[in-house]
Amino acid sequence: MPRRIAFINYKGGVGKTSCIVNVAACLAETGYRVLLIDLDAQSNASIWLMRLERWNNLNVNGQGSVFSIFDPARDRLKDIIFKDVVIDRAGKSILPGLDLIPTSFNLIDIEHEYNPPDGIPAYARFQDQLSEIENNYDFVLYDCPPNVMRAAQCGLFNANEVYVPSNPDALSLIGFTLLTGKLLQFSERSASFRRSGMGKAAQIQGIVFNAIKPNVDIEVPKMRMQFRLNQYRNQKKVAPNAKIFGASIRDAVVVRRAVTLGLPVNCVAQTPGTEGVLSDYKNLTKQIVRHGEESAVA
Ligand SMILES: Nc1ncnc2c1ncn2[C@@H]1O[C@H](COP(=O)(O)OP(=O)(O)OP(=O)(O)O)[C@@H](O)[C@H]1O
Ligand SMILES: [Mg+2]
Repeated sequence: MPRRIAFINYKGGVGKTSCIVNVAACLAETGYRVLLIDLDAQSNASIWLMRLERWNNLNVNGQGSVFSIFDPARDRLKDIIFKDVVIDRAGKSILPGLDLIPTSFNLIDIEHEYNPPDGIPAYARFQDQLSEIENNYDFVLYDCPPNVMRAAQCGLFNANEVYVPSNPDALSLIGFTLLTGKLLQFSERSASFRRSGMGKAAQIQGIVFNAIKPNVDIEVPKMRMQFRLNQYRNQKKVAPNAKIFGASIRDAVVVRRAVTLGLPVNCVAQTPGTEGVLSDYKNLTKQIVRHGEESAVA
């Protein structure tokens, strides 16, 4: 069974996509088989890893992206996987083991336009199709939008572990608080659709601080986040060993440049300025791998 992991925060722009893409890439580099699923209609992870030309083809006709398993239900998840999605300019695969199920902008229609047939919620349909493919992977990762609406629910229903990228500020703490409440509500509401073999309902495993600027003291926001996390641990609202991960990600220009290049940071030519943030992503990846082994989360 793969580890199924969602990255989400109720706050936008905190680094969910950049963290999950780079963790996925570090996992693949280590030799794990990784499936990254883009569940945010903004399509940032898809555009990043496919680059505009390949992604435009999807977006123009809407076929071959997540929403096409819903309406009209033309594709199954197993047919829309981009295998070894990271390629160089010559089209050569340069990061084998990292597959992507992409989205296009039409995924936004799942929230209002789509009427689930037979009353089966979108997340249950998604799970049914995922079960056909997930055992081909060691890790299934979900990049989610900053809410717990239908697209995000597809990831949260199937994930066992949730990681919360955050910036060291008050708004990220509010995002974390909102997320915890909404996730618990959703877990209760969706419980009757869970099947054996899915493992535990998604639980928050921890906070990852992202985009930390040099010489900025993050001790106070960190302390506030730790306080809230302790409260939630005692109230059993998050995993018993939920924590703030020691590996935080520094602010670095290469993270934004990597998007422009259509490459994860570990595939960008390394310079002295890029090594630091790459080692942050590698450390975070190691800590996530270890965290799962320690807590047998699934
Ligand atoms: N460590 C970092 N250093 C520098 N820039 C970063 C870093 N992490 C993220 N960014 C930049 O911050 C912006 C927001 O990051 P990202 O898209 O990963 O956030 P998000 O939480 O996924 O946003 P959304 O809620 O819109 O999905 C992007 O422009 C990204 O390149
Ligand atoms: Mg994002």
